[in-house]
This record gives sequence, C-alpha cells and structure tokens, in this order.
Amino acid sequence: MKNSKINKSLDTYKKAKKIIPGGTQLVSRRSSQFAHGFNPIYGFNAKGSHFTDIDGNIFLDWVNAFSSIILGHANETVDKAVKRQIDMGSIFTVNSPLEIELAELLIDNIPSAEMVRYTKGGGEACAMAIRIARGVTKKDKILFSGYHGWHDWYQSANYLTNPDDGEFPFAGIEPIGVPKVLAGTAIPFSYGDINNLEKLMEENKDQIAAVIMEPMRSDYPPKNYLENVRKITKNNNVILIFDEVTSGWRISVGGTQKFLKITPDISIFSKAMSNGYPMGTVVGTHKVMDMASRMFISSSYWSDNVGLAASIATINTLTKSNSEKWFKDFGKEFKFKINQVCKSNNLGISCKGSETSPYLFFEEIHGYDNNLVKTLCIQEMSKRGIHTNFSFHPTMSHTKKDIEDTVNALYETFEILKKAINSDIESYLDAPTTKEPFKRLIH
Ligand SMILES: Cc1ncc(COP(=O)(O)O)c(C=O)c1O
Repeated sequence: MKNSKINKSLDTYKKAKKIIPGGTQLVSRRSSQFAHGFNPIYGFNAKGSHFTDIDGNIFLDWVNAFSSIILGHANETVDKAVKRQIDMGSIFTVNSPLEIELAELLIDNIPSAEMVRYTKGGGEACAMAIRIARGVTKKDKILFSGYHGWHDWYQSANYLTNPDDGEFPFAGIEPIGVPKVLAGTAIPFSYGDINNLEKLMEENKDQIAAVIMEPMRSDYPPKNYLENVRKITKNNNVILIFDEVTSGWRISVGGTQKFLKITPDISIFSKAMSNGYPMGTVVGTHKVMDMASRMFISSSYWSDNVGLAASIATINTLTKSNSEKWFKDFGKEFKFKINQVCKSNNLGISCKGSETSPYLFFEEIHGYDNNLVKTLCIQEMSKRGIHTNFSFHPTMSHTKKDIEDTVNALYETFEILKKAINSDIESYLDAPTTKEPFKRLIH
C-alpha cells in the first residue's frame, strides 16, 4: 500500500488473518468494510470523540464501536463506577443486588418492561427473546426484518435466498454450519410494507410465534406503519419483539418505543446500554416473560457486576444530562452543516435519517457503482483523520469543533470526488473496493 500511515495495522492484520478465521470477531471490523490501507484496523487508546491507532495516528471517531459508545470513549463517570465495582469483586459466587437495581431502572424507563433478563451481547439477547416467544406461543416460525446477530434461528433465513443477490444480511457469507432443517423457520419481511407482513402472516397462519424487527434504525418509520404492525401481531396472537440493540438509548433512554409510542411485548437492548462494557437485556411484559422461569435460559457471566454497574452509571448519566435534547440539538446542527456541504457540491449526496443516527445517502453518480464512490469518500475522509463509514453515531463527547472538522474534511473529499468522476475514478481510488458482504435490511 503506497504511502500508508497504517503499516503496523496492516502487518498486524496480516498476522491475524493467519490465526483468527476471518481476521476479526465482528464482520463490521473487517478492513474491507472501510477503505483498506487507509482506515486504521487496530486501536491503541480512545478518549471522548477520538482514538489513536497502533501507528500513532489520531482519528475523530463517528463509528463509536458501532454505536456501543454513547457518552464518549472512556467516560469518567461510567469508568469510575466500573473501577469501584472491580475493587469490590467483578463477579460474585452469589447473586448481585445490582441485578435488581438495574432491572428497576429499566422497568421505570422502558414502556414494554415489566420483567427483565440479562445477557452479554445483542445477538444472544435476540436468541433468548426468540426462545421465549416460541415457548409462550408454542409456535415455531418467526417473521423478521433487520439484523439480529449470528445465531442459527436467524442465519437459517439465508437458506431462503441466493446469497449473492444482495437482498439479505450476509450476501457473500454462506450459512455454513446452520442446520438445514431450520430453513423456512425464519422468514424475512420488507420493512415499511404492511401488505407484505399481512401476506406472510396469512400464508403462515397459526404458525408464527413472533415478529422481530428494528422499530427504526436511522430513518423514521412510515406513518402508521408500526401501529399497524402492533395491530396485526395482536390480532394473530403473535409476540412483537423490538430489537433496539443499535437504536437503544439515543432517541430516548426508554428506547425508540417510548419516542414512537408503540409498546411491543418484548424488547432487546445491548451495545450503548453500558457505554462500552459487555451487556444486553431482554425485557417484556409479565405475561410473556414469566414463561422464561420454566425455560433453560442460563449463563455464568450474565450476572457479572461490571456490566451491571456500567449500565446503571450510563443510564443515570444520560438521564441527568438530558440526553434526549442533547442528541436532538447536536444532530440537527450536524445534519444542517453536512447538508450545506452536500448542497454546495451538488453530487447527489445528502445527509438523511434521524438527528440521533444520521447517515450520508449516495445517489448513483454518473452511472458509477455506489460502492466505488463511497469507498473513495471513506478513503479521503480517513486521510483527513476522520474515521467514518457514513453511518454516524454521535456521542455526548462530540463537540461543535468535531462537526467543523468533519465539514472541512467532507468539503475537500467532495472536491476530490468531483475531479474523480470527471476523469477516471479508479485512478483516485487507492483502496480496493470489495463486494460489500454485510447488508442491513433497513436504514
Ligand atoms: C439490531 C441489532 N440486533 C442485534 C445485533 C447483534 O448484537 P451483537 O453484535 O452484540 O451480538 C446488532 C449488532 O449490530 C444489531 O444492530
């Protein structure tokens, strides 16, 4: 890679690929998800809105551990609570009263929460919610939209489609190892299309245990859509599960369900609920959650004190800082300023989505593959010290100066893009473009 400032990252990645299958633990951390050769692959430390990579470069971070960081990296209040807890014991032999303290906080804040279970991650929380829904309804099939992790119940959906057609989450990654007998038990529906959901419900009458979906990710749902989803699920005796793993806490500490005023039967939170410490939760009504006491749902580290202490400190800090208003105001200014750059360049690029999770939308430019254009922009932003895949996850540590730095880098990036599309775009692209293997069904 010519003139690379990330040589240590690249060398480490080469080593990793020999001893870690796939190179990384999370698909989104693969170098191919950014501009390979330019974006840092390994970090050294992180504080607030910035991190330093192992080559010593400093980056402004808009990815924030894929939305796991909400207050900022190494937040002092959360870390203090965690350090205090470590000194008192990171996990006990007996149960921790923090389990009840956090459960009460969740019940106070989340409309659908009357009972609570914990996990360490989002995918396993989804698997737990599906097990409970199947147990309660005594039905097996699941209708889903959006991304819900790596477990068999969900990945079996990839047997329903040609993995290369780009429609489902892991185009290019096969469902190897997922039992084929599960094919047809998890069926995708199109977000926003109520007729599609009704049709699938009718075709699988009396067989659907649950509808699991991200109520929203970045774009707001179409008018009345979620209300109708709620109505259809109720009428068909189907459990409605909202997966708020990535959206959680940003629009509201009670989840998007509080903001959108739609109450599901079960909800799932993880990632930002503990500002960077492993934690997940499945919450729901008494009526559905009570069944979990008769099911084998159990794991040693689900009761560790660190995740519990981090979650309590994160929720209390967000509430005290009036985070809802902060994210709205910050996002409004961010979107306005980024859209000013977009408009002045007229490249068919705009900043869309909610204030809490905005993203850059790329129209097709001059018939060029979007992936090519986007990779060039990610590359140029990275050269200017901005780490982004253009899905922005602001944290409460981001500042107006961070917006200005992003605006300036974006302006220069668009100038280069303009030159590139008027000549030979590939000659401007130093990073290889790879076929995007990881898609999400909704924005
Ligand atoms: C909506 C949603 N559900 C589930 C998951 C899986 O969470 P985890 O990676 O913690 O297993 C993710 C991760 O991105 C997610 O965005």
